[in-house]
Amino acid sequence: MASQLHKTLLCATLLLLLLLPRALLVKASLGSQGRALLHWKDTLRSPQSLRSWNLNSSPCNWTGVTCNYPVTGKGRSVITEISLPNMGLAGPLDALDFSALGSLLRLNLYYNQLGGTIPPAISALSRLVSLDLTSNQFTSKIPVGMGSMKDIQFLSLSQNQMVGAIPPPLSNLTKLMSLYLDDNNLMGVIPKELREAPRVDVSGSWGRLSRLTDLALYNNQLSGALPVEINNITGLTYLELGNKSFFGYVPPNICKGGALKYLTLYMNFQGPIPLTLKNCTTLKRVRLERNQLTGDVSQYLGEYPYLSYMDLSFNLLSGTLSPDLSKLHNLARLRISNNITGVIPTEFGQLTKLQDLDLSSNYLQGEIPQSFGSLTLLYNLSLGNNQLVGQVPPEFGMLSNLELLDLSSNNLAGRIPDQLGNCMKLRSLKLNNNSFSGTIPLAIGNLAVHQDTFDVSHNSLTGDSIPTQRIGDAAKPESIA
Ligand SMILES: *[C@@H]1O[C@H](CO)[C@@H](O)[C@H](O)[C@H]1NC(C)=O
Ligand SMILES: *[C@@H]1O[C@H](CO)[C@@H](O)[C@H](O)[C@H]1NC(C)=O
Ligand SMILES: *[C@@H]1O[C@H](CO)[C@@H](O)[C@H](O)[C@H]1NC(C)=O
Ligand SMILES: *[C@@H]1O[C@H](CO)[C@@H](O)[C@H](O)[C@H]1NC(C)=O
Ligand SMILES: *[C@@H]1O[C@H](CO)[C@@H](O)[C@H](O)[C@H]1NC(C)=O
Ligand SMILES: *[C@@H]1O[C@H](CO)[C@@H](O)[C@H](O)[C@H]1NC(C)=O
Ligand SMILES: *[C@@H]1O[C@H](CO)[C@@H](O)[C@H](O)[C@H]1NC(C)=O
Ligand SMILES: *[C@@H]1O[C@H](CO)[C@@H](O)[C@H](O)[C@H]1NC(C)=O
Repeated sequence: MASQLHKTLLCATLLLLLLLPRALLVKASLGSQGRALLHWKDTLRSPQSLRSWNLNSSPCNWTGVTCNYPVTGKGRSVITEISLPNMGLAGPLDALDFSALGSLLRLNLYYNQLGGTIPPAISALSRLVSLDLTSNQFTSKIPVGMGSMKDIQFLSLSQNQMVGAIPPPLSNLTKLMSLYLDDNNLMGVIPKELREAPRVDVSGSWGRLSRLTDLALYNNQLSGALPVEINNITGLTYLELGNKSFFGYVPPNICKGGALKYLTLYMNFQGPIPLTLKNCTTLKRVRLERNQLTGDVSQYLGEYPYLSYMDLSFNLLSGTLSPDLSKLHNLARLRISNNITGVIPTEFGQLTKLQDLDLSSNYLQGEIPQSFGSLTLLYNLSLGNNQLVGQVPPEFGMLSNLELLDLSSNNLAGRIPDQLGNCMKLRSLKLNNNSFSGTIPLAIGNLAVHQDTFDVSHNSLTGDSIPTQRIGDAAKPESIA
């Protein structure tokens, strides 16, 4: 009787053991986790930076390895994090026994020379929160099984040579906040599954990845129009698309959540600049160059207290430069090479953080404001190929950081001001194709010794030896053109 009961209990226990999730039973010990790492280390071509990885110490003391330390003292230590960025690691990832590392929460191996395939077995890291393999040499597809790493919040495979399509199961990664797949060779369209909501989901689609804050798919070969569903991801702070990945219209609600800081849409985009950008006061960096965007810049741009970088060049933008642009107090770089008309507002002199200003190849008229003398951080100024008239303001002599000055192909006249000779860092000066007259100030001639480019050709300059065009070897005298 007792034996019968015993047998029954034994059977029940066995059955229970069989039914229990395997992971609970074969939780790897710290020792076996360490052995898995040493085995991988043996396959690396340059493991010098992993000297501390040896059997004489606990894996918890190894470079880049972090363990949890049980508070009660009862549980066991396990490895929770491996972080080896920029350690010169070269070799494959295949030999790493991921099944021993199920306790990992973070795996950061960015900026190394690891290559080959990202093994499908990586999906055994089922508790992983962050995986960063940025800037290695992986050449495989994205493992389909990664769709089961359901706690993952940060995933970056950017700057590798990954091929194939984005696997549909990635849409199951609903905790994902940052997805960086840029600078790879990924192909195909964004999978329907990534775009369409499960029926129960409220806002649908990429809306399924509604926690996304960072999305980078730049520099791939992804085709098709930008998923309109991106509109419904309201927490986006970082969006980087383009250069052969997607085309079409800029999503009109791109800043709906009021969080967008970094926006890059490069090449292949068309249509109007979305109106919502006007109220998108969070913007810090905007790169919309080389698209076919249309619209009047004076109406589409608003007040951006944090904006430091804006490049709208090579679009089909029109309109005038609003004096209100002077309220962009943090602007360090502004490039609008387009179809802009009107004058350069004198208020631009208030943009005292400007380092790089490119207003070239527009239809700008009027004079260069004297207020430019206040832009003392300016090192690169391009106003070439416009219809500017008048003289070069003597105040340019105050631009002590100016290295590159291009005023070519305008209707500027008068003498070239002596004060330009005060711009001691000037190394590229293009004043060609204007109506400058008189002689070249001696001070500038002296500066020319240090210059990379010196071009005053196609003017009405007089004098015996006019340095006309000198590119490259500046010390060598040039013949008169
Ligand atoms: C880690 O190393 C320190 C000394 O460097 C030692 O005191 C400590 O016991 C080591 N811990 C483990 C878990 O090996
Ligand atoms: C998402 O996960 C569920 C199970 O949780 C699975 O049935 C489904 O196939 C997965 N979706 C995709 C697109 O892989
Ligand atoms: C976006 O969300 C709104 C509701 O907030 C919904 O009506 C609309 O269909 C969604 N659009 C897309 C493209 O998912
Ligand atoms: C665009 O992608 C090509 C490769 O397809 C690359 O060579 C080029 O540098 C990229 N352009 C930019 C601006 O990133
Ligand atoms: C921008 O904000 C103002 C004031 O809050 C509002 O009146 C206007 O409609 C908004 N414009 C857009 C395009 O959202
Ligand atoms: C510039 O804009 C004007 C007025 O909108 C238009 O007539 C002209 O064709 C545009 N030129 C270019 C080069 O886009
Ligand atoms: C200066 O500005 C011009 C025009 O935008 C650009 O082509 C060039 O690369 C810039 N040079 C440097 C050194 O920033
Ligand atoms: C400058 O003017 C000359 C003569 O008119 C012309 O051949 C040349 O293309 C012009 N250069 C530029 C950069 O506009």
